[in-house]
Amino acid sequence: MESSPDIGNLQAILLVGGQGTRLRPLTLGTPKPLLPTAGVPFLAHQLARAKAFGVERIVFATSYRASMFTEAFGDGSSFGLRLEYMTEETPLGTGGAIRNAAQALTCGPDDPVLVLNGDILSGHDIRAQVALHMSRGAAVTLHLTEVEDPSRFGCVPTDPDGRVTAFLEKTPYPVTNRINAGCYVFRRSVIDTIPENQVVSVERETFPGLIAAGELVLGYIDTAYWLDVGTPTAYIKGSRDLVLGRLHSPAMPGPCGEHLALPDSIVSPDAKVSGGSVVGHGAIVESGATVTGSILLDNCVIGPGATVVDSVVGPGARVEGGAVLSDVVVGDGAVVGSGNELLAGARLWPGVVLPESAVRFSSDV
Ligand code: GTP
Repeated sequence: MESSPDIGNLQAILLVGGQGTRLRPLTLGTPKPLLPTAGVPFLAHQLARAKAFGVERIVFATSYRASMFTEAFGDGSSFGLRLEYMTEETPLGTGGAIRNAAQALTCGPDDPVLVLNGDILSGHDIRAQVALHMSRGAAVTLHLTEVEDPSRFGCVPTDPDGRVTAFLEKTPYPVTNRINAGCYVFRRSVIDTIPENQVVSVERETFPGLIAAGELVLGYIDTAYWLDVGTPTAYIKGSRDLVLGRLHSPAMPGPCGEHLALPDSIVSPDAKVSGGSVVGHGAIVESGATVTGSILLDNCVIGPGATVVDSVVGPGARVEGGAVLSDVVVGDGAVVGSGNELLAGARLWPGVVLPESAVRFSSDV
């Protein structure tokens, strides 16, 4: 049996500089990796899992709203980690960001470096991925996961030996259901070959370039829980799955169950809050309201008899009595007047006030 390499001093780069455009309006004020997810910033789950797998030092590759990361996590001591921050004045893309952040690494040229996208919830075995990388002496080892509909993703075929043979763009006829899961192990010296101070995409340039040059790019296939929280629907699902205990996270601020009510929140005894919902600090759910599978952020109010399903209600926002929301994002401080019915993908920008009964979809009105 192969001996498992010691990854006790593993260093990592966390990519968190994106603008999170698909999650607007939630990301207008807060970067995606800091959005509250099951009661804590999204990254808290990733940091706790990385720590559990033996990572000790993480370099954050920041750009969009960089100072908010330092304010949220500081030197990392509360997570038992050492954190550093490397900021791009203008975003350098995923590859440029890795190259820039690598200046803060202290490991040697042959050591493995873990690189994580800052918007992935994953239960995969990081230790096994690193072990595969080291035992095969790969240039890069990519976590690959399997999805039902690979046409929405670029796909990554491998040969029987696990070698990645191509990085294919989205296509209606994918050759495999295996996709890039956004977690890589690089040999440190390979990062140094990425051009400095230039916009580079690892997905479109670095990986295809390494494959074309005959370097060993390996796929580590692990089909444990995996979710890219890049859209509102996925973000809500991620929070819901953590609250319901479908993915274990050492960072959960309370027990798993039908809902998580954070300190200083108030849920009326006549309200029904379920399906992995979170009720934020200072948030109020009034009598007769029904909240299912949703994220209620701090200090928002759900009025009497309102229904909120698979939705996010932003900080300080108000959903007034009898309103119905399904698959909706309500921005910070916005107000949904009573009697409104908002469905499928509606987004209310911060501060918008929707007057009483302004929008209804039912055919019986
Ligand atoms: P969308 O705008 O909604 O596509 O989201 P995004 O900006 O986060 O982009 P994407 O989901 O493709 O990014 C994947 C990961 O890479 C995320 O964790 C981003 O924060 C990060 N990322 C993307 N571009 C950059 C960049 O230019 N610099 C840095 N430091 N990180 C980036």
